Amino acid sequence: MTKTIENMKACFMGLGYIGLPTAIIAAMNGIDVTGVDINPAVVDKTNAGELHIIEPGLGEMLKKVIADGSLHATTTPEVSDAYFIVVPTPFKGNHEPDISFVEAATRAVVPFLKEGDLFVIESTSPVGTTEKMAELIFRLRPELAGKIYIAYCPERVLPGNVIYELVHNDRVIGGVDEASTDKAKAFYSRFVKGELHATNARTAEMCKLTENSSRDVQIAFANELSFICDHAGINVWELIRLANKHPRVNILQPGCGVGGHCIAVDPYFITSAYPAEAKLIADARRINNYKADWCAEKIINAILRFEIEHNRKPVVALMGIAFKPDIDDLRESPAKYIISKVMVGGNNSRILVVEPNVKEHQVFKLTPYEEAYREADIVAFLTAHTPFRSLEWDDSKVILDFCGIFKR
Ligand SMILES: NC(=O)c1ccc[n+]([C@@H]2O[C@H](COP(=O)([O-])OP(=O)(O)OC[C@H]3O[C@@H](n4cnc5c(N)ncnc54)[C@H](O)[C@@H]3O)[C@@H](O)[C@H]2O)c1
Repeated sequence: MTKTIENMKACFMGLGYIGLPTAIIAAMNGIDVTGVDINPAVVDKTNAGELHIIEPGLGEMLKKVIADGSLHATTTPEVSDAYFIVVPTPFKGNHEPDISFVEAATRAVVPFLKEGDLFVIESTSPVGTTEKMAELIFRLRPELAGKIYIAYCPERVLPGNVIYELVHNDRVIGGVDEASTDKAKAFYSRFVKGELHATNARTAEMCKLTENSSRDVQIAFANELSFICDHAGINVWELIRLANKHPRVNILQPGCGVGGHCIAVDPYFITSAYPAEAKLIADARRINNYKADWCAEKIINAILRFEIEHNRKPVVALMGIAFKPDIDDLRESPAKYIISKVMVGGNNSRILVVEPNVKEHQVFKLTPYEEAYREADIVAFLTAHTPFRSLEWDDSKVILDFCGIFKR
């Protein structure tokens, strides 16, 4: 009997920010899902119907699919009809991509593969990874050559809006051959309402890297303008607002750098593989990294100047640790880097660290934002969290507005 989607089994390798929601949505759509994670705590929590990630609305859905048995979690794969690799792809110290998690997860499913199965990589991956995993599979299981379907399908959801975007975003699907693309499209069409765009595996891999590199380059342009405007005595916020009145110009806002585990990471997957060609992408990475050093230096200089002018050490408020507004995600955050630099170079000034979206931090003692703003002589805005916008400009303070809270 040919399997219909209704009676098919799918195995998701990796139950993190992307794998868990995707596994839940698949289970909600009539697929019998095994969720696999090497972290037993993640497996136990998931089986108890408790989310180990923060994602609005997902908790109730998890409870439902656990209760009706359409999703169960385990630490080892089980025989299925489709396998999805959704594990981390960080970079190593030298900015080379680390695909060891993808390889480990692939090796784990290889013994379970059988004729007619679908194998999909969703993890953000360097170009050629899907072909490499196909080679690995056929080296270990030569009898499956030409008998299974292998594809790449990147994820482009925004954490916080994952339930909506998993269903409504368009997706790019690239198989190692046309039959694989078609098979993967048939799977995703079960729950994706956005368009499914067919291509080959290498283009699909590059597409994901291109999307995040494009954002990085655009942010670098805004950050570069902030350096120029600082030098030229021009308000960069006003400049960008006015330039964007042009019907075909849309400049993004500068900030204190670029963080997170996507935009600050994925461009390196291109630059490390194509160093001779990827000049603009590499420059954008450098500019966005340099922006954090530039901000730290501005704060440290303001501290030293204050001390000379007032004959005492200032109180300094550093506002925001998260890598973007209104989230609690501190991964690869430039604000965190700036705070560490100021703590070292700030001449023993009293530093008040603020992050309204986090209750406590392992390293930094946190201060409520109103209290920090009230007490500080120098205030540096590092993340444009919405609550900061309720504060009023105070002429008696030195305010370093790196992310446009007051746009002054
Ligand atoms: N989080 C995002 O916003 C986002 C968006 C688009 C793409 N991505 C990409 O999706 C992939 C997954 O990201 P994430 O944010 O879900 O990561 P995550 O760190 O939240 O979760 C990954 C999970 O995989 C598990 N894992 C590691 N090795 C495993 C293995 N061999 N077998 C089974 N489980 C294993 C980990 O224990 C962890 O729970 C990455 O490549 C990332 O770049 C993430």
